Amino acid sequence: MLKDIDTVLYTKEEIAQKVRELGAKISQEYKPEDEVVVIGVLKGANVFLGDLIREISFPVYIDFMAVSSYGNSTESSGVVRILKDLDLDIEGKHVLIIEDIVDTGLTLKYLTENLKSRKIAGLKICTLLDKPKRRKCDLNIDYIGFEIPDEFIVGYGIDYAEKYRNLPYIAILKKEVYQS
Ligand code: IMP
Ligand code: MG
Repeated sequence: MLKDIDTVLYTKEEIAQKVRELGAKISQEYKPEDEVVVIGVLKGANVFLGDLIREISFPVYIDFMAVSSYGNSTESSGVVRILKDLDLDIEGKHVLIIEDIVDTGLTLKYLTENLKSRKIAGLKICTLLDKPKRRKCDLNIDYIGFEIPDEFIVGYGIDYAEKYRNLPYIAILKKEVYQS
């Protein structure tokens, strides 16, 4: 795997520090009576979610959604299909979406519109990585780990063609890996 990596952007330790900060911030911003459902967007947010929930100091429900966007593998098309919906009933609950990367924002735009139609008490978004330069829609993100440049990223749950998810760090993938 190492031969395909261009640069390491964030080490395991830097990620852990950021996750602690995000967990602390989130822990302060809900009221004790709020029922919070953390929703991970599969599969990329899985690793981040696993670490983040252990830095949140109040009890949370956990659920997952899987979505796919049509189009080629390194660009989002904005046409989103739900592959796996929630198991829990979220009516009346505070939803906190956990995402790995926000790129064009189209996936989360669709997801938030969809979830808001389910009579929830509130919705917030937490993403580990944000590529603000690539945004194609209006999207309000409540918690951002790192702002990153417009490069293709892998590691810490994030894949290219289902590979590299188990790298403990976040890295830029060599262009030749996906441009051949
Ligand atoms: P968006 O709809 O363009 O915001 O796409 C967001 C999704 O595309 C993320 O949840 C990732 O799954 C994927 N994605 C965007 N950028 C990257 C990247 O650099 N590496 C791997 N996946 C990415
Ligand atoms: Mg994703």
